[in-house]
Amino acid sequence: MSLGRECEGVITTLLHLAEGRLVRVSGPLTVSVVDGQVLVLGAIFSRGSSFHVDEFKSYGVKALVDSSLKIYMSPGASVEEPQSGEEPLDLWVSRIDDVMRRGCSSLAVMGPTDAGKSSVAALAANRALLRGLRTGVVDADIGQADIGPPAFVSASIVEKPILSLRELRPLYQRFVGSISPQRFERRVAAALVESVLRLRAEEGVDFIVVDTDGWVQGVNAVEYKLEALRLSGIESIVVMGDRELYRLVDRMYGRYGCGVVYLPSPAQRRIRDRGARRILRSRQYRAVLSGSRPRRISMSDVSVQGSCLFAGTPLTPMELQEIGRILGVKVLAASVTGDALVAVVAEKPRGNSVARLESLYERQQVYLVEKGSVKGVLAAVVDERGREHPALVDDIDFATNTITLYTPFEGEVRGIVFGNVRLNEDYVEVGRPSRCLL
Ligand SMILES: Nc1ncnc2c1ncn2[C@@H]1O[C@H](COP(=O)(O)OP(=O)(O)OP(=O)(O)O)[C@@H](O)[C@H]1O
Ligand SMILES: [Mg+2]
Repeated sequence: MSLGRECEGVITTLLHLAEGRLVRVSGPLTVSVVDGQVLVLGAIFSRGSSFHVDEFKSYGVKALVDSSLKIYMSPGASVEEPQSGEEPLDLWVSRIDDVMRRGCSSLAVMGPTDAGKSSVAALAANRALLRGLRTGVVDADIGQADIGPPAFVSASIVEKPILSLRELRPLYQRFVGSISPQRFERRVAAALVESVLRLRAEEGVDFIVVDTDGWVQGVNAVEYKLEALRLSGIESIVVMGDRELYRLVDRMYGRYGCGVVYLPSPAQRRIRDRGARRILRSRQYRAVLSGSRPRRISMSDVSVQGSCLFAGTPLTPMELQEIGRILGVKVLAASVTGDALVAVVAEKPRGNSVARLESLYERQQVYLVEKGSVKGVLAAVVDERGREHPALVDDIDFATNTITLYTPFEGEVRGIVFGNVRLNEDYVEVGRPSRCLL
């Protein structure tokens, strides 16, 4: 590599790569191909083209012919020569190409967090594009969503080579309501199946790639995903970085379509800690929700799911007063179902007043919602065609039974689905997910 030039923190370097040679680049950086042709994530970049590598990403770049690259490195970026056997790019490409050569028209990627799932999903999409196939991607990794906001399953069409699923815009999306699939398996599975079927029926895609969540500990975690993949007709599964998981998936899926393929994770890669993951999620929430205008909707005009409060029979004003007297705080709304009493309180009650209320309602679990904590609950609004759009609760006026929420959707709203995620003003998740945020 020639000596770099630094300008405003960006170091510019000229790199000559002989045919067949490979370097590992870690972002944030931009590479422009001055001469030659390189392979990145299964996509070919030729002279005159350029690509960007995000701050949390690293990739192998391989010269297909003698090439010269201009690399613009921001702070934190690096370009290294991998040790032999460290870089999985060639193996990834050949195994994915093999699935396509055998005529299979769909593939799902499974593996633990940071295994390289989304990278291989993008690589598979790039390889399908190179074959001239109309390619769709379903992002069913609700915890580290790339295409849409977290807690949503999103689907997209790939129009050009991509280095990250983040470059794709959602064509349709389904709200799961949680960033963790546990206890939400049925919504993830339903959304995954629907997305795949719609991509086939409405978009006429030739090839489908599905990215899945990183929850792979235990049979239930694996089986719910395989169930959804089988029902949507996915023909092959790529398992990343976990041999034991591969054997389990192979026992459950190995005889279908093109079977189950194992791929190693990159030996050296950028690992994102919990903080980095939270920042990434926050960016995704902001991207879809910021700039949207508030809308006021009467709760009696919409169907409501995902709420303990709105699922129950509302208590009468007299009952609210009675509960308020027991709790020693103002109760703005409350409802009961067979197993839950939910009360919205103006402030946190003191002492053991909740226990007194619990002994009165002994068949119900008592949940208290503080009025202030309604703000920032992640939700989806449902339109008249049943499509879902991201939304963020601003406030609920219990006196008039109206909700104010922020959503980019401007049409008629028929329903609201509440999630178990709450965001602060900076779109950062706050509090713990609970059964009854609302
Ligand atoms: N060929 C490669 N060489 C080195 N690093 C790579 C390579 N391919 C991908 N990586 C890096 O490995 C890291 C994990 O990859 P990726 O994001 O695809 O994993 P994931 O399983 O989807 O993670 P998550 O669980 O967060 O969804 C990323 O930083 C990615 O840039
Ligand atoms: Mg991923």
